[in-house]
Amino acid sequence: MTSIVRNQWYVAAYGREIGRDLFSRTICGESILFWRTEAGAVTAMSDRCVHRRFPLAEKPSHLVGDTVVCGYHGFTYGADGVCVAVPGQTRVPRTARLRSYPVVEQDSFVWVFIGDTVLSSSVPVPRAPWLARDGWTTVSGREPLAARASLLVDNLMDLSHETYLHGGYIGTPEVAETPITTEVDDEAGVVRVSRRMADAACPPFYANSTGLTGRITRWQDIEYRPPCLYTLHSRIAPAGVLPNDDGTDPDAFHVEVVYAITPETEHSTHDFWAVARDFALDDQGVSDFLAESNRTVVLQDVTALDVLERVIAAESDGYQELSINIDTGGLAARRMIARLAAAADPAPAGR
Ligand code: FES
Ligand SMILES: [Fe+2]
Repeated sequence: MTSIVRNQWYVAAYGREIGRDLFSRTICGESILFWRTEAGAVTAMSDRCVHRRFPLAEKPSHLVGDTVVCGYHGFTYGADGVCVAVPGQTRVPRTARLRSYPVVEQDSFVWVFIGDTVLSSSVPVPRAPWLARDGWTTVSGREPLAARASLLVDNLMDLSHETYLHGGYIGTPEVAETPITTEVDDEAGVVRVSRRMADAACPPFYANSTGLTGRITRWQDIEYRPPCLYTLHSRIAPAGVLPNDDGTDPDAFHVEVVYAITPETEHSTHDFWAVARDFALDDQGVSDFLAESNRTVVLQDVTALDVLERVIAAESDGYQELSINIDTGGLAARRMIARLAAAADPAPAGR
C-alpha cells in the first residue's frame, strides 16, 4: 500500500527554478512538467507526451510562445495541457490532452495538488509567509533524500537529535535535556511541539548570526501541517529576556526554519529547507553563514536518514520500535498522516 498521502498540496519547486526552460520533477511518483507562460504564470502538466510518451522536458522538445512542442513527432500542447496540433492531419483527437495539475505560486514556493483535481479548491494551500515578506531575509535550498518522507517527518518532529547529530552547529546539551509539550489540533490539521529552554548555551548557528555571546533563552515552537509543511518558530534572546505583555518582542531574534517535505517516490524525498530571519537583513555575511550552516545540518540529517532507509528496506516488517516522551510529536504526526491517507483513499484495492 502506498505511503503517499494524496489529495494534498505539495511543494514542487521554488518559483526561481521555473522560467522559460522546460523543467521536470517527479512529485509523489508523478513526472510533472513545469514552465512559465509569456505572462509569467507557472503551468504544471504531465511530462509524458500522449503519443509515445516522450518526456516533454527532454530536448529537442521546446516552447513556442505559450505552447510546448514534443521533440519526437511534434504534438503541440497549450498551457492547459490540451493538444492543439498534431503532425500529418488537421483533426486533433479529442482525448489528446496532458493531465494538468492545479498549481499555486505562493511564499516563494510552487505548490501542486496531487490527487483528485476537483478537490483542490477545498484543501487550503499551506502558508509560509516569512519566506517572501518585507522585514525578513531568507536563505533556502533543496537536498535530495534517498529515504521515505516519513523518516524526515520523524526527524524534524523530535529535535532532541540536534544535541547528538548536530553538535557544533545547532545542538547543545539543553535541547535533549529539556522536556517538550505536544498539542494536536485536528480541526486545523496541525501538530505543535514546543521546547522552551530558559537558560541554554548559544550554539554557533545562532552565536555567529546574532552576535549573542552569553547564555540564552531559546524557544523552539514547531508547527507541522501534514503532510508537507513544517515550520520551526525559533526565538533567541539573552537569558531571562522575555516578550513584552503586549506580545512585542524587540530584544529577541526570530528565525523561521521552514521545511517542505515532498515525496519524490515511495522511497525518496525532496527536502526543501529555508531559514528566514528578522535581523541583520542586509548582511550578506550572515546570509552566507546561515545558508552554509543550515545546508550542512540538512546534509547531516540526509546522511543519517539515507542509512535508516537502507536498514528499514532490508529488514522484514514487524520491527517493534521503542518510543519515549521525545517521540510524542512524531507519533501524533504519524496518526494525523494516517487519518489523511485513509480519508484520501478510503477503500484501497485488496483491503
Ligand atoms: S512522442 Fe511526442 S509526438 Fe510522438
Ligand atoms: Fe536534524
